[in-house]
Amino acid sequence: MNSALSAMGRRTAPPPISWLMHAALSRPRLISLAAGFTDNATLPVKISRTVLNRVLRSPKTGQPALQYGSTAGESNLRKLTARHLQKLDQSSSSLERRPRTRTKNEDDKTHSWGRVMITGGSQQLLYMTIEALCDEGDIVLVEDPTYFVFLSVLQSHGLRARGVRLERDGLDLAHLETVLQRLKKSGELHRVKALYLISYFHNPTGVTTSFEKKRGILKLFKQFERAAGHPIYLIEDAAYRELRFNGPDIPSTLMEPDAAERVIYTGTYSKPFATGVRVGFGHLPEPLFTTVLRIKGNHDFGTANLLQQLLADALETGLYDRHVARIEKRYARKAQVMKQVLAEHFPSNVEIWEASGGLYFWARLPKHVSTGVKSKVFQTALKNDVLYVPGQICYADDSSRKKPDHEMRLSFGSASEADIREGIKRLGKVMLKLL
Ligand SMILES: Cc1ncc(COP(=O)(O)O)c(C=O)c1O
Repeated sequence: MNSALSAMGRRTAPPPISWLMHAALSRPRLISLAAGFTDNATLPVKISRTVLNRVLRSPKTGQPALQYGSTAGESNLRKLTARHLQKLDQSSSSLERRPRTRTKNEDDKTHSWGRVMITGGSQQLLYMTIEALCDEGDIVLVEDPTYFVFLSVLQSHGLRARGVRLERDGLDLAHLETVLQRLKKSGELHRVKALYLISYFHNPTGVTTSFEKKRGILKLFKQFERAAGHPIYLIEDAAYRELRFNGPDIPSTLMEPDAAERVIYTGTYSKPFATGVRVGFGHLPEPLFTTVLRIKGNHDFGTANLLQQLLADALETGLYDRHVARIEKRYARKAQVMKQVLAEHFPSNVEIWEASGGLYFWARLPKHVSTGVKSKVFQTALKNDVLYVPGQICYADDSSRKKPDHEMRLSFGSASEADIREGIKRLGKVMLKLL
């Protein structure tokens, strides 16, 4: 008998992370440096209790909070989110002296709350954006490597991902130009809809893309759009922006004059506040805002109202900002511990990309040493009860190059300091034995 599943249902591969999750659950003594979870100790239990009590105390706020809301999100939270984004961008652009960014007095439709949408995590917004932009066979450019769940979304929709090399200060612009030229030459440029860029403390490498580079990307798109026959969008995923513990913030591409028509900015309250509250947001240009809103109408016609009220209150009362300042210190310390133990225990021919925000360090072994799931390194690490994310799963299936297989993502997010020390020590021993 034939399968009753849709083409998409049949195509959708199991998530690569499910195997890793299973490995973690089936070995209770396992130290996981793989999970992208935040630190339990940073979760705002007390703030949430205070705020929810306040919201639910009076029927005037309690009843609407327990009712359906509107598809785009609760208007107060949308306004607070626009203001929050504007504050981040304006304080960072005053630090960014060289490139000219929009000033306070220029038309600020790029931070207007009318373009802000509240979503079920930023993941939902990424998913809906792809649904709104792409048909089967279309091409989405991604950083090489990138967030593996995003790759799964592309795979599930029958889309093609094309990798663009990543450098320590972000996307390799020369390679982006080469990729676009190649696609133009092969007559496929019209299939390119967007570039997905994790611009702050990138998952999995920890890299932040400089403002000059973001500006360069938009400039290149302008050059190629005529040949593509339609706009090419920049999806700027800023999921880790507020988990910053070293160095200044960088303005988002929304601060580039005239860029707002080509930028889909996705952000989240998950990482800086609570992953369990799972509220994300985006700033979208037209016609995408309207289209994604219609799609969201079909998905869930609105993100959970109670959770939106929780965030709106925390933002309005300053509890949110105080919380973020507190957790930055904790992540800074954990990253410092990881840096120190990596220096102590990893062989010197392993290149470490240190994070100055986010949750991840990136380790690059010599090219001939595989770190994949079936590799000796991975299997021996597992036997020694320590888990990492093999770099290979973060690379797109791109026939124009062989997938690199000698890297690993190491998270200092959810593991305790003691576990970071012990986990890295165990991994170091495995490597010293095998390298
Ligand atoms: C790069 C990146 N973007 C988006 C997300 C989704 O986060 P959320 O849906 O919780 O906002 C994640 C989660 O790990 C991520 O790593």
